[in-house]
Amino acid sequence: MKSSCQWNKRYNMLFIPYGKQSIDQYDIDTVVETLKSDYLTTGPKVKEFENALSDYCDVKYTVAVANGTAALHLASLVILNQGDKVLTTPNSFLATSNAILYVGAKPVFVDITKDGNIDLDLCELELKKDNSIKAIYAVAFSGNMLNQNKLEYIKKTYNIKILEDNAHAIGANYNGIKAGNCINSDISIFSFHPVKHLTTAEGGAITTNDKVIYEKLLILRGHGMVKTSDMKPWEYEMRELGFNYRITDIQCALGVSQLKKLPLFIERRFEIAKKYDTSFQNTIVKPLYTFDGKSSYHLYVVQVDFTILSISKEELFNKLREKNIGIQLHYIPINKQPYYKGLGYGSEYTPNMDRYYEECFSLPMYPRLSDGEQDYVIKTLMDTLR
Ligand SMILES: Cc1ncc(COP(=O)(O)O)c(C=O)c1O
Repeated sequence: MKSSCQWNKRYNMLFIPYGKQSIDQYDIDTVVETLKSDYLTTGPKVKEFENALSDYCDVKYTVAVANGTAALHLASLVILNQGDKVLTTPNSFLATSNAILYVGAKPVFVDITKDGNIDLDLCELELKKDNSIKAIYAVAFSGNMLNQNKLEYIKKTYNIKILEDNAHAIGANYNGIKAGNCINSDISIFSFHPVKHLTTAEGGAITTNDKVIYEKLLILRGHGMVKTSDMKPWEYEMRELGFNYRITDIQCALGVSQLKKLPLFIERRFEIAKKYDTSFQNTIVKPLYTFDGKSSYHLYVVQVDFTILSISKEELFNKLREKNIGIQLHYIPINKQPYYKGLGYGSEYTPNMDRYYEECFSLPMYPRLSDGEQDYVIKTLMDTLR
């Protein structure tokens, strides 16, 4: 594979980021073809992308939207009501719990397990204590799907909604259950930001097997507007307060082209993960989990106990950046953000999340990371920690 470095303006040198898109001539030609077509938006590429995603995920319905956050917002409008309590994880990007707030519902932060995902056993304890909890927003963190057996049990036992935030997890599977196929959830979302497995620049999608949910999503994506065959040619009716969360045909053309290569992208992510796993065996660098074919590895997260080292996490970040390596931190606990503290959050008992936050960081992981670059990342990291 070719070098994937990009120019780092701050250090004026080539830089290996933690994540990055893989665009080739086929993608470019596909996008150019759409640019030359009659439709730049609301055209056939949107449906083509949605159908391709439905096929890939084995799910009945897909609605492609402007970004993953818009997907979460629309999903929340459909499955939540104002005042609902929603169990969710502190270990995610802000968008997951922000979407709960957007619709006037109330996030309740639950600790994580060793793999970085929300602790579903703790969720069950909360559900037993409090019957005003109406939903779980669970993130398949780093590409590692939630325990589907447990999810199935919770869904059947407690009458609640389940949203799977699969922004990290397209291409992942849990014993043959694919991310996004909603077999044990009401709704799932994806993000197609450039650091994700496949990109549409900005973009997202919602998947569901529920026709009622699907039809509501379509209306909400387009201003709450409805146009039926019995209406006059100029007529449309606004039945809901909706949004313009449309994605363009240009973006969807890129999505269709990228989706065709997803199995190859994931294969390469697997190779990278296995090499990291092998290199860190019996070292102080502990992978969040090791390869078992389930995670689709949006991120490769490791943990290091800095309390036994003479280097701090901040020093490690800075030193690696000076050496052209962009490690990243996923995530600062959402409940500890100033905005959330202002709402009264921040003092939840989440010992696993607290420890994880002290120790974790993500290493470069993307298909175009070359073998040589990965060797350099591993050697530089180990040398810097020594
Ligand atoms: C877990 C998770 N959910 C939602 C989002 C939001 O996606 P987007 O950036 O496409 O709005 C992200 C983005 O990084 C994410 O990581």
